[in-house]
Amino acid sequence: MDELEAVCEWCGGSGWKPVTREGIGGVLRCDCYNNGRIPRMTAAANIPPLYRNASFENFNTLPENPVTHRHLQHAVTVAMSFAREYPFSTKRQGLLFIGDPGTGKTHLAVAVLKRLIQRGFAGLFFDYQNLLERLRTSYDAAAGSALREAYQQALDCEVLLLDDLGAHRVSDWVEDTVTSLITHRYNNNKPIIATTNLRDPEAGDPPLPSGIGGDASARYYLTERIGMRARSRLFEMCRAVSTRGVEDYRIRKGRMLQ
Ligand SMILES: Nc1ncnc2c1ncn2[C@@H]1O[C@H](COP(=O)(O)OP(=O)(O)OP(=O)(O)O)[C@@H](O)[C@H]1O
Ligand SMILES: [Mg+2]
Ligand SMILES: [Zn+2]
Repeated sequence: MDELEAVCEWCGGSGWKPVTREGIGGVLRCDCYNNGRIPRMTAAANIPPLYRNASFENFNTLPENPVTHRHLQHAVTVAMSFAREYPFSTKRQGLLFIGDPGTGKTHLAVAVLKRLIQRGFAGLFFDYQNLLERLRTSYDAAAGSALREAYQQALDCEVLLLDDLGAHRVSDWVEDTVTSLITHRYNNNKPIIATTNLRDPEAGDPPLPSGIGGDASARYYLTERIGMRARSRLFEMCRAVSTRGVEDYRIRKGRMLQ
């Protein structure tokens, strides 16, 4: 054991410290347990480097436009209360961030995931497209079982962050796979925190104007990409949080730097 992991003077390294209350002895979680555990769990969550620092504290809800300010403020409030109250007093066991590219969906989803980890829940970040790709190649690769393991983790982990849901061409296989993933979590009462830029009327998105225009990703409905069954369960499990109409932060930042 190296010096950094010197045995704790309170608990002797067991992670439980003895306490006496009103003459009765018992044990409590020792601080040292949490101190080591949370950074470990955060590191194991597979959060991409670009988002490792994403938090509620560094999420800016003060854009120039008062309408988008209200949108973002609402998104942050819902996200924070979910992160605080889970698994109690939340009607739905999940969040679906839905909106245009660059509006902070992944940032907020990661902020929620990190809070939940701080509260002791184990969580994993998965990029939707990458997860499906790994699963698909697992069928003909020699390293198949290792690749399939990722999918198993997505099924069974305590908290799942599924980023960029539906960012994939549609096929029966994709539809079946995402449906079984969502159904499995739904049946086991395990939460999903998802992000998507696909449209859905349930999240307040207006119908598409006729004729083609605008951003390609916003031209599709969620149902078209993940199928009706997966979409229906997703909305039953998740509270939708819309950032539609908020200005792209990547573009805003670019302008501020000019
Ligand atoms: N309100 C904000 N305050 C601070 N940083 C922000 C805010 N919104 C977005 N960002 C930052 O801008 C970048 C883009 O945001 P993010 O990736 O969360 O957008 P997104 O909605 O998930 O986009 P996409 O649909 O393309 O995945 C990230 O680096 C994020 O940390
Ligand atoms: Mg994103
Ligand atoms: Zn200790």
